[in-house]
Amino acid sequence: MDNYRDTAADPLTETDPTQTDLPEPELQESELPEAAVRMLPVAELHLHIEGTLQPELIFELAERNGISLPYSGIDELRALYEFTDLQSFLDLYYANMAVLQTEQDFADMTRDYLARAAAAGVRHAEIMMDPQAHLSRGISLETCVNGVASALATSVNDFGVSTFLIAAFLRDLSEESALEVLDGLLAMNAPIGAIGLDSAEVGNPPSKFERLFAKAREAGLRLTAHAGEEGPASYILEALDVLGVERIDHGIRCMEDPDLVERLVEERIPLTVCPLSNVRLRAVDTLADHPLPAMLAAGLNVSVNSDDPAYFGGYVDDNFAQLEAVFGLSDFDRSRLAANSIHSSFASEERKAELLDELNRA
Ligand code: ADE
Ligand code: ZN
Repeated sequence: MDNYRDTAADPLTETDPTQTDLPEPELQESELPEAAVRMLPVAELHLHIEGTLQPELIFELAERNGISLPYSGIDELRALYEFTDLQSFLDLYYANMAVLQTEQDFADMTRDYLARAAAAGVRHAEIMMDPQAHLSRGISLETCVNGVASALATSVNDFGVSTFLIAAFLRDLSEESALEVLDGLLAMNAPIGAIGLDSAEVGNPPSKFERLFAKAREAGLRLTAHAGEEGPASYILEALDVLGVERIDHGIRCMEDPDLVERLVEERIPLTVCPLSNVRLRAVDTLADHPLPAMLAAGLNVSVNSDDPAYFGGYVDDNFAQLEAVFGLSDFDRSRLAANSIHSSFASEERKAELLDELNRA
């Protein structure tokens, strides 16, 4: 691989995305240390707030709300965190949401994440929530949105983390359902800045939600969608061309289509990659098989994110630590990943400049 020092592009400006010096894997996963890594300030762009619900909080909220869980204790619950694919995870992820009943529950979950994210070096967090997964359980939009929003409102003060809320729509439900919920969010003036598309990907292509994304765009919302996690590279193209998204969540299967990679590089489309998630959901066999080094080498605009950290073995710092252990990330690549995350965020230009300045100093 090229040695960046000879051509020294500055990772903080977006000048030369094709340079990388990620070496071949050094450690197999079985040898991974629980190493801490010195974190640069980053933006986390791909995070499902419901995926931050830790087993301890699940039991605490169940007790508070008088809900009886089908697990005898935390160990029995944790033992279920062995997933075979995306759907096997989603089944447990949706089931565990049963404990979220009140605004306070949503606020507590969100504050726990913000505190942990701040400790991980996250300085700006773009947080997805799944309103339909709560409405279907009889929880109102006000309860879930206001609960999360109340924790976000004090995040800069309490944790030094700026935030941005994204309403994600469940692609295995109908577009009519999504449109109805978007109407509800707009009617209540929910503090959302973007919409996303998540849940079971295969068989639910982006084109199913063309009207939803057109409506969100008209309402002035930013647009992102999960694509190319389990689904094919063609879903990434659809998300770009039919939905007009600015950012792709995951996107790792773009590597199967060289023409698409070329386009993503040329247009600097952000891909919010989640390495530990991809391993746990078996999108890749092991971390050593993850395409992140190849994506960086191809010049793609990738960032590192945690997706559902309570389920996938770690927060953004854990993702970096394990990447470091397996691939030996260079300082240059760590800076580039951090800079990409900031450039690719939906934060204001002013906030981005602050974060880039902080990164520069780090
Ligand atoms: N919802 C929560 N996590 C998800 C993921 N990794 N893919 C799709 N939908 C999700
Ligand atoms: Zn996700």
